[in-house]
Amino acid sequence: MHESTNIVWHNSEVSKQDRQEQNNHKSAVLWFTGLSGSGKSTVSVELEKKLHELAVHTYRLDGDNVRHGLNNNLKFSPEDRTENIRRVGEVAKLMVDAGLITLTAFISPYKQDREKVRELLDEDEFIEIYMKASVETCEKRDPKGLYKKARAGEIKGFTGIDAPYEEPEQAELTIETDKQTVEEAVDSIIDYLKEKGYLV
Ligand code: ADX
Repeated sequence: MHESTNIVWHNSEVSKQDRQEQNNHKSAVLWFTGLSGSGKSTVSVELEKKLHELAVHTYRLDGDNVRHGLNNNLKFSPEDRTENIRRVGEVAKLMVDAGLITLTAFISPYKQDREKVRELLDEDEFIEIYMKASVETCEKRDPKGLYKKARAGEIKGFTGIDAPYEEPEQAELTIETDKQTVEEAVDSIIDYLKEKGYLV
């Protein structure tokens, strides 16, 4: 933990609650986790589209994009993945403060890293969505051809092949992506958000 010295927190005059009231919905993180190819990006993209149509203020953070910019100095060692998730957690927290429903799509393979993000946020602000699909299913889909490369030994430390994925034990939502269509998954998440009072 790096303590900042000679730096004092400065509060804004517009609070998170003020922003939520103006937006007419709560803010929270929808934290998608799962193997590469499990459907995190696909479902989060479609969900964001639908939320936008419902006049919800959103922003989506995606591993493949964030790693081009903010996190372009990070690779896939356990330490770098942890740092990737730590930074994304901090960014997501800012976005929740800004009043947004924030969708994140990162493998986030380590339970402890996800739990740390949960702890950063207030209760009910972290909604873990487990995109459950077997390695076999994801490997069959292989949309980016990366499983093939990992099997051929061209990528080392690929999640699900020779790097671990720690399943969530108490995700708020589990989507079985080989049994549900994208539309069904999106609808079930929207239903959850309405039921729990995030959306009116
Ligand atoms: S995480 O483990 O740090 O959460 P993140 O979601 O940002 O990963 O990035 C995963 C994406 O990077 C995958 O969808 C895949 O396209 C690409 N990738 C490249 N190398 C690896 C690897 N060794 N393991 C997993 N994904 C990889």
